Amino acid sequence: MTISVQTFYDQRSGTATHVVTCAASGSCVVIDPVFDLDPKSGRTSRAPVDRIVDFIRAEKLSLEWLLETHVHHDHISGALALRETLGGRLAIGKRVVEVAEVIRQVYALPQTHARPFDRLLDEGDSLGFGEETIEVWATPGHTIDHLSYRIADTIFLGDTLFMPDSGTARCDFHRGDARMLHSSIRRILDQPEETRLFVCHDYGAEGSRPPAWATTVGAQRAENIHVGKGRTEAEFIALRQERDAGLEMPALLLASLPLNIAAGRFPEPASNGRVILPMPLDVPVSAL
Ligand SMILES: [Fe+2]
Repeated sequence: MTISVQTFYDQRSGTATHVVTCAASGSCVVIDPVFDLDPKSGRTSRAPVDRIVDFIRAEKLSLEWLLETHVHHDHISGALALRETLGGRLAIGKRVVEVAEVIRQVYALPQTHARPFDRLLDEGDSLGFGEETIEVWATPGHTIDHLSYRIADTIFLGDTLFMPDSGTARCDFHRGDARMLHSSIRRILDQPEETRLFVCHDYGAEGSRPPAWATTVGAQRAENIHVGKGRTEAEFIALRQERDAGLEMPALLLASLPLNIAAGRFPEPASNGRVILPMPLDVPVSAL
């Protein structure tokens, strides 16, 4: 059994969307698709979705699953737009329900605010596509609902780890927790060292190299600047908490949350025909 991975990189949000193909059957899954929103101008574009649509059509693939690793807060999900165009089933971690309830209350969204997921996943679940199996791992820490997906010898680990020279992702939203993140990372790093890892975000190490998204357990163990080189759990927790306390809010945080708990569903247009996004003011980060 073999899979191939084609990655589409979104420059604005630094997101790597992975299309994973089962070579034997021509089935594929898409992990963490993006819909573009420029937070300065309010302009939207489905170009990142269409690049994936074009690829899947050109390769004559059948899209089986659209998988979210978690409720993102730095880009808008393109999952719903992609499903509307190509079909497939949409899945996310079952703890999205808790995240969505917090966001619903902060934004005063109606109880009926829809979550259009076809399947809510939990630790130990498995999904089939073509001749391959997707193992679902609960890897909370960056967010409480975070999942990783293992397919063959490859783990798609969302924001559980960044590339080795960029360390790890923040864990101060959605009931994230540094100790929990460390435990999820340990589980990943206990895998055989040749295990391939694909990350969801990369920013080119602050512009010092081109964006990258593929690494291995061995490289992370040896080189990750936050958890590699024998760093202890206590050292990681102290470092992560100190960094999180000083980080600015992501540019798309407040815009993305009510959209992403619904897989990127925008509100209906207002009476003037325009789509208008809500923005709650003075919300402490700890409440998100
Ligand atoms: Fe994230």
